Amino acid sequence: MQNHRWLRTPEGTAPRISFGADYNPDQWPREVWDEDVRLMKVAGVDVVSVAIFSWAKLQPGPDTWDFAWLDELIDLLHADGIGVDLATATASPPPWLTIAHPEVLPVTSDGRVLSQGGRQHWRPTSPVFREHALTLVEKLAERYGSHPGVVAWHVNNELGCHNAYDFSDDAARAFRAWLEARYGSIAGLNHAWGTAFWSQAYGAFDEILPPRLAASYPNPTQQLDFLRFSSDALIDHLVAEREVLNRISPDIPVTTNFMVVGGTNHADYAKMAGEIDFVSNDHYVVEGRDELAFSAALTSGFARHRPWFLMEHSTSAVNWQPVNRPKRPGELIRDSLTHVAHGADAVCYFQWRQSAAGAEKFHSAMVPHGGENTRVFRDVATLGGILQDLSDVTGSDRAPADVAIVFDWESWRAAELDSHPSEKLEYRREALAWWTALMNAGIRVDVVPVGTPLAGYALVIAPVLYSVPTALKESLEAYVTGGGHLVTTYFSGIADENDHIWLGGYPGALRELLGIRVEEFRPLWEGEEVALSNGTTGSLWSEPVDVVSDDVEVLVRYENEGELDVAVTRRPVGSGSAAYVSTRLGVEGIGALLSTLLDGAGVVSELPEAIRGSVELVSRQGANGRFDFLINRTDDEVALGEGDYLYGGPTLSARGVAVRRA
Ligand code: GAL
Repeated sequence: MQNHRWLRTPEGTAPRISFGADYNPDQWPREVWDEDVRLMKVAGVDVVSVAIFSWAKLQPGPDTWDFAWLDELIDLLHADGIGVDLATATASPPPWLTIAHPEVLPVTSDGRVLSQGGRQHWRPTSPVFREHALTLVEKLAERYGSHPGVVAWHVNNELGCHNAYDFSDDAARAFRAWLEARYGSIAGLNHAWGTAFWSQAYGAFDEILPPRLAASYPNPTQQLDFLRFSSDALIDHLVAEREVLNRISPDIPVTTNFMVVGGTNHADYAKMAGEIDFVSNDHYVVEGRDELAFSAALTSGFARHRPWFLMEHSTSAVNWQPVNRPKRPGELIRDSLTHVAHGADAVCYFQWRQSAAGAEKFHSAMVPHGGENTRVFRDVATLGGILQDLSDVTGSDRAPADVAIVFDWESWRAAELDSHPSEKLEYRREALAWWTALMNAGIRVDVVPVGTPLAGYALVIAPVLYSVPTALKESLEAYVTGGGHLVTTYFSGIADENDHIWLGGYPGALRELLGIRVEEFRPLWEGEEVALSNGTTGSLWSEPVDVVSDDVEVLVRYENEGELDVAVTRRPVGSGSAAYVSTRLGVEGIGALLSTLLDGAGVVSELPEAIRGSVELVSRQGANGRFDFLINRTDDEVALGEGDYLYGGPTLSARGVAVRRA
């Protein structure tokens, strides 16, 4: 995303926050399409994603093509002012293809071949799949690349959602080429993978395999490289499709939908964002409202705080959790506007009309099985109106905060590998706890990938920063010596990019900056807690921390824990500081420590004291000014006070949102 390029809009169209859904009319008789368009206008829909799973319909056989239905559909939508985000339709290959070419089917780590019958059953590295997919993309680009109704290209769908890790022979070949490019020589690889251990030394690249099911723990660096390679294979597929699109229809921007949500981490989205014109994300509420906001903030971090496209979320229940409950009143609108607050300039759902058949028939949609006369459709139509009232917000960036949480894909994946001091560590959970505690304190926070310039932030939290290559070590040191305040936690600074330990004591790469030294980790048993001197407790992890620099302040100690003493430290460095937290404090424990950290960094809440914690504040700033989004995190009414409100206010209803000019 070197240059941000947004949806193409027909000349004379006023900027607006776009609204719509995945639209699958190929599941419905033709007469339903007219009813769809009527209802889309009622709801204020102006964009739909089309043809995501239409490969079998567009190409019913190897040499037969059927575009007539799509011609008619795009013309129909365009005539009614509804733009098409046109998918390349490569997400799910048709049965004829996998029957003729079973060699495109993915293979699991224990050698099972995945069958057709679901979706996304293709190997990212299959040359046969690639050839068929690119032929389809070429046909679509040639046919629709200059249609005025096509506002964006949507490459594939959720790349890697079901097929990220393929252990086939195609993957083995591509993995070897990737490794050769990375290491140059087999000696380089042997060093990086530490193959002196367990007699793993390779004599040549063609001896290497993906980490298939092995007799014991596979080599950790091999595992990490396979994760990196698998993400790069998805990016390679994205780039191959994008190049066809750019060659044939250079005027239409290209996107692909990420999955920044919950524990999904198969694709390196910071890197993927560099290959598209604007970031898109799919988010489903899996762990509550704060996780939604955290994911939206991280998506904005990938988008470098420029506007992004919420490609999918749900109007109400999903179908893929063990128990699927509808959203409560107010949540449909609040969830959508939370994404807008964090930078979404388009709000779309999966999907427009709830399916009557297939695996997703119990997944909510904009038009439920009950039709127009339903609570969901009424809320959808209300939201469509609200988005139009917020058109001044369009094009604005998410305004920078004083505090950032650094979210590092490398550390996430490496810290959670097997054979570690504790298998209970959850990288994202630690980051989310800091986010939630900061929300409770009424602080605006950015969530940014490694590589984002940090100098503008007063306070940077880098939880469980396990992987610290030399360049990152140096940039964190420069941040602190430049006056920044850094906070990091247990299991940080441990390893370099090859997963080799920084020797001399923990936290390795960050030891000198923090002025402490740890000889052994002391993870806690499930349910075990350690008492802390500020009245809170730690869980998951503890460490005997030695202070080795005279200027280190001890902020919190372990109490009555025998060999444990120092728990939380801070070392002043010029006008900056570097703090270390050696246990999992959880939201409450972080909350108890936070005022010390915030005061030290000179960060204050922008919210009046009475509403801190009840309300999440997020701001956007652009040509039309600055807009504050105030989001009710509670089930009670909250009084905000007078202001220039574009929507809501001056009282927030339960789960309500207000938007006002700052
Ligand atoms: C997404 C996918 C959609 C739909 C949705 C259901 O993963 O892109 O096609 O399956 O989930 O929640």
